[in-house]
Amino acid sequence: MKKYLLFVLLVAQCFSAQFTDINVVKEIRTHRKGMVVSAHPLASEAGAKILRAGGNAFDAAVATQYALAVVYPQAGNIGGGGFLVGVKNNGEKFTLDYRETAPSKATSNMYLDKTGKADTDLSQNGRLAVGVPGSVAGFYATLKHCKLPMSQLIQPAIDLAEKGFSITSREAKLLNTHKEDFLKHSIIASAFVSTDQWKAGDLLVQKDLAATLKRIQKDGMNGFYGGETAAMIVAEMRKGNGIITLDDLKNYKVVERKPLLFQYKGNDIVSMPLPSSGGVLLAQMLKMSSFENLEKYQQNSAKAVQIMVEAERRAFADRAEFMGDPAFIEDKTAMLISDEYLKNRWKSYRPDLATPSSQLGKIIKQPKESTETTHISILDKEGNAVSITTTLNGLYGSKVVVAGAGFFLNNEMDDFSIKPGVPNMFGAVGGEANKIEPGKRMLSSMTPTIILKNGKPFIIVGTPGGTTIPTSVYQSVVDIVDFKLTPNMTVNAPKFHHQWLPDAISVEKNFPENTIAELEKLNYRFDRISQIGRTEMIAIDENGVVTGVADGRGDDSVASE
Ligand code: GLY
Repeated sequence: MKKYLLFVLLVAQCFSAQFTDINVVKEIRTHRKGMVVSAHPLASEAGAKILRAGGNAFDAAVATQYALAVVYPQAGNIGGGGFLVGVKNNGEKFTLDYRETAPSKATSNMYLDKTGKADTDLSQNGRLAVGVPGSVAGFYATLKHCKLPMSQLIQPAIDLAEKGFSITSREAKLLNTHKEDFLKHSIIASAFVSTDQWKAGDLLVQKDLAATLKRIQKDGMNGFYGGETAAMIVAEMRKGNGIITLDDLKNYKVVERKPLLFQYKGNDIVSMPLPSSGGVLLAQMLKMSSFENLEKYQQNSAKAVQIMVEAERRAFADRAEFMGDPAFIEDKTAMLISDEYLKNRWKSYRPDLATPSSQLGKIIKQPKESTETTHISILDKEGNAVSITTTLNGLYGSKVVVAGAGFFLNNEMDDFSIKPGVPNMFGAVGGEANKIEPGKRMLSSMTPTIILKNGKPFIIVGTPGGTTIPTSVYQSVVDIVDFKLTPNMTVNAPKFHHQWLPDAISVEKNFPENTIAELEKLNYRFDRISQIGRTEMIAIDENGVVTGVADGRGDDSVASE
């Protein structure tokens, strides 16, 4: 058995038919080796290559993110922002917040028309929707944990942009679907617009992006936040209603934050604090459902779903009221995750009936579904672990490509509460705590998480999916810790989601019908949606066996050292 564990075991589902030269690998089991799981096989491979070249997990994190900015332009980015949670093999735990900020000229009513009505088209599409990008600053902040120079970490991305790569059928379909948006929001046709229809296997070459990456390689931070690239971003703003200035770019700062730490059934959970609501929600939901001995039930059974939905509902009601950028509001995290507060919050739970969300606030319209953003889980053979979620917000962000620089800009401003009570693109509502203010970070749901057992990485996990992110990570933790399921059974099981408002449980189409029928009898309402999230997980057992699982819902892929 032990001998068997020493072999690299590829339990792979290869979908080579979709590609001309790349394979999607859905699961790898190996012994004490580094591993990268991301949304795209070429990005995972870029990270794994850096591990093979002697880099550590942080080196691989930088290389993978740059590569995703090329091969996964719908969410991988240099024009957006993200959060990194790191645990080093010496026990050090830290997070990097490279979330976008509101430009200095932003105002709380910038998306309201003359009658005071919120214009969500403005906060979601085009130049006014763009927050000051943080990703490149985040990569530079990561460098102090790295072994290799930035010039080496960025090179795989430069090669991919310059020489091009074969796109998958999913990417071809998305690029075709959004062609009109790209043309509408960019003055010159970018590399993403084809005169014909894109098809699987077509080569996507991004010369402008390659040149931008080379400027970063040559000039460091100034290759993005200054010089030619910054001038191009500001020129792009001036082609429409954009407000980002050269000073906004120059003044962008990453914030190193203490991770949100809490215990769950003998495990230490390390997650992202505010301005992401993710870690706080995760702690609240896990603690509330632990009052009901969740481990007695089974994944996606009616009882487990009911308890978890009621925990989700209460946590999301708190999100709307209390959460925002801690530099601008009083940070109530300690109170919100305290046992005393949560026990009190749980008192209204009734096993025989759904708690109406209206008991907690007024009902607001149905959200749009979305699965944007992207997650990367990485482990190296020395035991360093990294969990990163990064985003442009919507698919291809604002749909604005910076002319001459070749990358998409985010539409992260929509994550602010553009008017208290008006839902954002994920249907999330917010209040004063998340109102727009210059320099402020918009509230996020991203939940990059690492679970430690006996002080060592046990699970590295995260997912895209807007407001479904914290609930999907919650389900992953419960599946592993309470239901003792394998990573594959966790990542690929049908998911559910409740976010207080709207008062409905979103379920994936293959969700068990008997669970739905049982819960409908208790007054729960369901919405069937196409998919929820794309979880990337690495699990490490006590014998040092490492299992990486890439979500089956997309082209997500694992690569090992
Ligand atoms: N833009 C998605 C999030 O930050 O939660």
